[in-house]
Amino acid sequence: MSGTSGFPLPPGCVIFSADEAREAQLPEAQRQPTAEAAPPLTERYAATRRLSEALAGPLSEADATIQSMPDASPAKWHLAHTTWFFETFLLRDRLPGYQLFNESWPFLFNSYYEAEGDRLPRARRGLLSRPPLDGILDWRAHVDKAMKPLLADPAHAGLIELGIAHEQQHQELLLTDIKHALFQNPLAPAMWALPEPTVRPVDKVPDWHEHPGGIAMIGHQGAGFAFDNEGPRHRVMLEPFALAGRLVSNGEWEQFVADGGYRTASLWLSDGWDWVRRKGIKAPLYWYEGEHFTHAGWQLRDPWAPVAHISYFEADAYATWAGARLPTEFEWEAIAQGRDPAEGNQLDRAGPPLPLGSASLFGDCWQYTRSAYLPYPRFAPAEGAVGEYNGKFMAGQWVLKGASCATPRGHSRASYRNFFYPQQQWQFTGLRLAKDL
Ligand SMILES: [Fe+2]
Repeated sequence: MSGTSGFPLPPGCVIFSADEAREAQLPEAQRQPTAEAAPPLTERYAATRRLSEALAGPLSEADATIQSMPDASPAKWHLAHTTWFFETFLLRDRLPGYQLFNESWPFLFNSYYEAEGDRLPRARRGLLSRPPLDGILDWRAHVDKAMKPLLADPAHAGLIELGIAHEQQHQELLLTDIKHALFQNPLAPAMWALPEPTVRPVDKVPDWHEHPGGIAMIGHQGAGFAFDNEGPRHRVMLEPFALAGRLVSNGEWEQFVADGGYRTASLWLSDGWDWVRRKGIKAPLYWYEGEHFTHAGWQLRDPWAPVAHISYFEADAYATWAGARLPTEFEWEAIAQGRDPAEGNQLDRAGPPLPLGSASLFGDCWQYTRSAYLPYPRFAPAEGAVGEYNGKFMAGQWVLKGASCATPRGHSRASYRNFFYPQQQWQFTGLRLAKDL
């Protein structure tokens, strides 16, 4: 099928959101938040593609093939799906004469694009013993070579930016999905060793960021890339509030547990209390006694590091216990505007992502807000198949802001809207408290 041809992308701009690494360290310039400082598109494309393969580097064929739950996808599938994206929306639609690497594979590696036809059900991705990992890596090399003329033509820059951002999202998913898969194995396999301990940076962290309230402008502004769900920019009325200077820590969460937090119905939303009882939840995902499971196997928990792998329900219950609340996405963004989104503990290279804590608003863990994931006023999904990326997921999910230790540095922004269902725990999710003034 010819499918989608020509997406009306403004220059240097937009489309999607979240569906969704050893020599592959990101170029230094990619850490800069401004488009002017970014390295050439060709370089960023190559660095992103290398990072994906380096992240999967420690995995065996079997590691890369298994799927631990329907929410998660095999590492091999992530490597293939991101390649399908470039082959479909760039090479097939925009490179005259391009022949698909394998006519059968789009059925396997289309994620959820109805406009692209039938596809393998999500829950069956872990049954793909074929094609082998080597075959996927050959496909990646084939697509990367074929992409060269398109990378050199500015007419395709907007869509290539989208493909890079899409692959970065899947890099984070690859990390969180394989963590969940390895956790299922009683042998607790480690992908990497932990780096040598470093001295914790002594950051001056304010207790609270105060805001006087008033009309705030919310949403993406400027010529840089953003997904369609980050706009249109619009006005929001804020009451005076304060946002905590740091994320809630493991040690604080242990106090919540010791105080009977998971056994006290009055702290929980009704759906959350039902979830806690039905699932027997007693702690964040990956906790066991004084340890937690990481990409480096079981490790002692650092009481000063941010708590991670909590659900929206848990975040809300903790905030209630602490006499505070979750921020709205608008409050968080109003504080974050003007700050460097490339700061903090984010992913620079293949290695074990681990929340450490910092004074930055970005990094360590995605932060829950109490804002439902809804379209902004006058939002319209992008035209074509890529219009399926964000808008159709705006039901029953919650917005998270910031970035995590598994987010490729340079990927996020103040206006970035991540989103997950309220019971999901397998992402690097944490919380930053807010309060009324
Ligand atoms: Fe995707």
